[in-house]
Amino acid sequence: MIILSIKRLYAILYFMRIPLLAANWKMNKTNAEAEDFIQKFLKNEINSDREVVLCGPYTVLSKMQELLAGTKVGYGAQNFHWEESGAYTGEISADMLQELGCSYVIIGHSERRRDNNETDETVHSKIFAALDADFVPIVCVGESLIQRKNNEMVTVVENQLKVALDGLSNEQLSKIVVAYEPIWAIGTGETATPEQAQEMHAVIRKQVNEETRILYGGSVKPDNVVELMQQADIDGALVGGASLKSEDFIQIVNY
Ligand code: 13P
Repeated sequence: MIILSIKRLYAILYFMRIPLLAANWKMNKTNAEAEDFIQKFLKNEINSDREVVLCGPYTVLSKMQELLAGTKVGYGAQNFHWEESGAYTGEISADMLQELGCSYVIIGHSERRRDNNETDETVHSKIFAALDADFVPIVCVGESLIQRKNNEMVTVVENQLKVALDGLSNEQLSKIVVAYEPIWAIGTGETATPEQAQEMHAVIRKQVNEETRILYGGSVKPDNVVELMQQADIDGALVGGASLKSEDFIQIVNY
């Protein structure tokens, strides 16, 4: 454990992989609720050696712009469309998110792959569009329970990344963030063990580079974040349920 912690420190100091703690609020929070969260959250001191990001539904982004300006908390969206504009009913473009001051965007979350037909190919198009707009894309990958039971998790994640990251330069790879989110751990209370997560992060590391941050997502809570963050290739967390209450999320942020 101590050896892994030293490796983690090395990753931060040598490769400049600043820990990133990101909230994915999913389809939660009205403007009033977002305001309440942000006001409570900002009352806390945030450790200076890390980055914190809130990804809210589109409707709260202008509230975030208003309340987070001048703070060290970044914010972003949970999806966008790769085309610049046009006949895409219900979609949102990079320009529109830029206007709202967003710096991050989640791409290819498993819930969007499941419910909105997102594929590795659409993820690929979105990564390029996000980088063109100077957003930090948080690219989600991860296997299902059946795939894990069949011991297919390595091939599944490798294939997702092979298509999604095709053609990215080394410099572009340094700018993206990958989130490993095993589907069986999302919203289930069943977290991957630190060893299971590290094993998959090491697989992902081979397809990116030493500067790329790799987040773990799936039932991250205040009481399991420390152990996860000690792993050499875990550079942060993408947090769903436990990011909805400011008192839980601040504990994760200041792990
Ligand atoms: P939970 O933290 O609720 O398991 O959600 C994880 C997730 O999907 C973050 O994107």
